[in-house]
Amino acid sequence: MRLSFFFVPMLLQYSIANLATTTLNNLTDQSALLAFKAHVGDYRSVLANNWSISHPICSWVGISCDSRHQRVKALNLSGMGLGGTIPPHLGNLSFLMSLDVTLNNFYGHLPNELGKLGRLKFISFSFNKLSGSIPTWIGVLSKLQIMSLRNNNITGPIPNSLFNLSKLEMLQASFNVIDGNIPSGIGNLSNLFDLDLRHNNLQDQIPTEIGNLQNLESLALGTNNLSGLIPPAIFNISTIRVLNLHSNQFSGRLPSTIGHSLPNIEYLTLAINNLIGTIPDSLTNASKLIGLDLGSNSFSGHIPNTFGNLRHLNVLSIRTNNLTTESSSADQWSFLSSLTNCRKLSYLVLDSNPLGGILPPLIGNFSASLQSFYAYECKLGGSIPKEIGNLRGLILLTLDFNDLNGTIPTSVGTLQQLQGLSLEDNNLEGSIPYDLCHLELMYGIRLNGNKLSGHIPPCLASLTSLRELRLGSNKLTSSIPSSLWSLEYILEINLSSNSLNDSLPSNVQKLKVLRVLDLSRNQLSGNIPSTIGALVDLETLSLASNQFQGPIPESVGSLISLESLDLSGNNFSGKIPKSLEALSHLKQFNSAESFFGNYALCGPPKLRVPPCKQDNSKRTKKVALIVLKYILPPIVSTVLIVITIIMYRRCRNRSTRKSDHEDFLSLATWRRTSYLDIQRATDEFNECNLLGTGSFGSVYKGTISDGTDVAIKVFNLQLERAFRSFDSECEVLQNVRHRNLIKILSSCSNPDFKALVLEFMPNGSLEKWLYSHNYFLDILERLNIMIDVGSALEYLHHGHSSAPIIHCDLKPPNILLDENMVAHVSDFGISKLLGEEEDSVTQTMTMATIGYMAPEYGSEGIVSAKCDVYSYGVLLMETFTRKRPTDEMFTGETSLRTWVKESLPHGLSEVVDANLVREEQAFSAKMDCILSIMDLALDCCMESPDMRINMTDAAAKLKRIKVKFLDDAAATN
Ligand SMILES: *[C@@H]1O[C@H](CO)[C@@H](O)[C@H](O)[C@H]1NC(C)=O
Ligand SMILES: *[C@@H]1O[C@H](CO)[C@@H](O)[C@H](O)[C@H]1NC(C)=O
Ligand SMILES: *[C@@H]1O[C@H](CO)[C@@H](O)[C@H](O)[C@H]1NC(C)=O
Repeated sequence: MRLSFFFVPMLLQYSIANLATTTLNNLTDQSALLAFKAHVGDYRSVLANNWSISHPICSWVGISCDSRHQRVKALNLSGMGLGGTIPPHLGNLSFLMSLDVTLNNFYGHLPNELGKLGRLKFISFSFNKLSGSIPTWIGVLSKLQIMSLRNNNITGPIPNSLFNLSKLEMLQASFNVIDGNIPSGIGNLSNLFDLDLRHNNLQDQIPTEIGNLQNLESLALGTNNLSGLIPPAIFNISTIRVLNLHSNQFSGRLPSTIGHSLPNIEYLTLAINNLIGTIPDSLTNASKLIGLDLGSNSFSGHIPNTFGNLRHLNVLSIRTNNLTTESSSADQWSFLSSLTNCRKLSYLVLDSNPLGGILPPLIGNFSASLQSFYAYECKLGGSIPKEIGNLRGLILLTLDFNDLNGTIPTSVGTLQQLQGLSLEDNNLEGSIPYDLCHLELMYGIRLNGNKLSGHIPPCLASLTSLRELRLGSNKLTSSIPSSLWSLEYILEINLSSNSLNDSLPSNVQKLKVLRVLDLSRNQLSGNIPSTIGALVDLETLSLASNQFQGPIPESVGSLISLESLDLSGNNFSGKIPKSLEALSHLKQFNSAESFFGNYALCGPPKLRVPPCKQDNSKRTKKVALIVLKYILPPIVSTVLIVITIIMYRRCRNRSTRKSDHEDFLSLATWRRTSYLDIQRATDEFNECNLLGTGSFGSVYKGTISDGTDVAIKVFNLQLERAFRSFDSECEVLQNVRHRNLIKILSSCSNPDFKALVLEFMPNGSLEKWLYSHNYFLDILERLNIMIDVGSALEYLHHGHSSAPIIHCDLKPPNILLDENMVAHVSDFGISKLLGEEEDSVTQTMTMATIGYMAPEYGSEGIVSAKCDVYSYGVLLMETFTRKRPTDEMFTGETSLRTWVKESLPHGLSEVVDANLVREEQAFSAKMDCILSIMDLALDCCMESPDMRINMTDAAAKLKRIKVKFLDDAAATN
């Protein structure tokens, strides 16, 4: 008891003092944060609305505090739309351990003051626009474990001080412009497991000290200017799973033991270097290999015939090397027989190697996982084995630039997944099999440069996915099937250099997105229909060397995208239309070439056609002047330029041949993405990339190969049976485009996997902004979002040509916000994809979320645009009351709708989201505005569908409400 006399005052004193220092210090943090707030661009007003001195800093958005000291421990401002330079005041947050400003718009240098933050373990400035070099003071942050500077504009060399950071585990600085070499100090970072410096300007050799990094799992140095030998020590880091060194200038050979010394390797990417020697046989012992890319080097010798050991192998590329097959053995393609044991192989890329031999029938033994088979320019002879038809999973087959003969086997018609068939420049003969018309997913058919005869199958017109048809330089006869002119989404048609007759029909205008039309060197006749002017995307039009006649229609001047026009060698007559002057993209408007050989044409003398009689000299001058911009005055240079153009075309054809094929892959997969791509993009469906789950499945964030972020919606397998024609519906949805609808970028559809690839929305959903702590939308932001949603629904219901699309499941989680806070409605048409219309009412009820559902939809399963109007009304109420229709207060008779209805007008202040009207400013303007919105909402939610307003009127009304609000608010200020 006596003791307490002594102790209590001391304790008390101690805690008062402690309180005082806490307060003092958290005031330091507060003033640092307020200075930060004042200094940064905050155009989405996240900080303005949230960092208020009336609340303790630890409750501010993006801030986590240390529980003992109430000091700022972590600052997470990722994706909040902040900009400007990084304020130095951050350096005063002396307890900071984690600083994350990923995905904002900060520019300028990293301020020196950050060097004061000695407790930092985690820094990420990735996805900003920072410049300057990596600061030398970085070396004092001795506790740093993770540093991420990806996708900025950081220049200069890597400072040596960086290598003092002995705790560093992850260093990501890819997609910058860092130069200089990789210093040997890198070997000090013994805890490093992830080093990512891809896409910089690093030079010279990799230091051998890199071999000290015995914990390294991922080493990514691709796309730099590194050269010399790859240090052999790298191949002794047994922990490595990912080794990415592609697109550098490495030379030398691979160690023969590589497959034994890298037992954990999964992805080995050495493409586009100067490596020589043979592919070590030991590689086939690296049994965890998933991806192996040795393309575009100078490897020679035989392809190992033991790849069959690699049971996980998914991608194998050895393209563009000097590899051969064993010419002595009868079975030259024996490596293929081993590869057929790799049952997960999807990409087999062998092209541009002097393999020789013939394609053996055992090609048919690959599993259904094989999606792409590239063997162009492989000196292949013989014919295409009919067993190719067994490759049921094949999406792309390219065998061009070989010496294949015989006919195209009709079995290709069984390749139901095929999207690209490329057999250019072989000696194939016979007719084009009608079986191709079964390939519903077909995107591109390239058969030019063969000896194909007969006629063009009219049924090709049933391939509505077809975007590219190249049948040029064959021996095709008879007329162009009229059905072909109904392929309304086709991009390229090349039928040049055949013996086709007939004329160009006027319904050519149906091909509304056509970019290339080459019908040259045939026996086509008749007039050019004036409807051709409708093809506003047409870039290349060649009708050269036919028997077309009549005038060149004035409407050719409407082909505003035209870059190349060749009408030479026909029987055109009359005046060259003046409208051609307006075609500003016409690069190859070399008159002499374009019009040559049409002896009845007239025009300005520089076009080397006779002058038109009625032309007055003034006009002629003007035409000539315009034309002069694109051509050449004197005749001598005409000849030169024509020659140059021809040479240029030839060179270009040669040099683009390979990249052309790469295009083809990306084209073919434009609409469709493979499972593999999705698996890669989501880092194998990594939990970290999971954005959310719902009744349909899960949504992941992913990054596709060009670096774009996307959202990937993976559908629940249990719903599989409900998928009614997923593909054709996707087709429809992909053609639905509106600023306020999520863009569907592509889809992936296998019997056991269905997914949609969508635009990624960095600001998440309206749900998050309405209900998560630390997020706030002011009245104008909510109005803008609801106007966006209204426009999207208006478009779905009324704004595009096909039948109205009903959303059926409008609710805050389905309204997503992009980096500028523009709303995009997602999941539209999902109900269609799931085929619910034909299912029972109960099925329907599980789809639409109770609370947002129109009464007739719930009770009778009647789906119409008016159901969406109802949901829109509910959503309007929810957005401005911040009360969910599913809130537990709404039971029995009371619903959100009746609650709002009964409160109006006098009880408005009881239903409105109090946060919206907390500040006195413009109070009455706000209340007026919200009252009008609630009125509109009730109009949308009329019990009887017939009484409900339509989306066009609703959207217009909301826009007027906004205009009035802005006026009123301005008047009160
Ligand atoms: C500082 O910490 C004290 C004690 O935890 C707290 O009451 C006060 O609100 C904090 N001040 C700020 C500005 O956060
Ligand atoms: C990157 O920085 C350089 C100067 O260091 C500048 O010229 C360039 O415009 C910057 N690029 C971007 C995209 O900010
Ligand atoms: C390819 O290898 C052959 C021998 O197999 C050799 O004669 C030829 O020069 C090599 N070609 C290239 C481009 O390296």
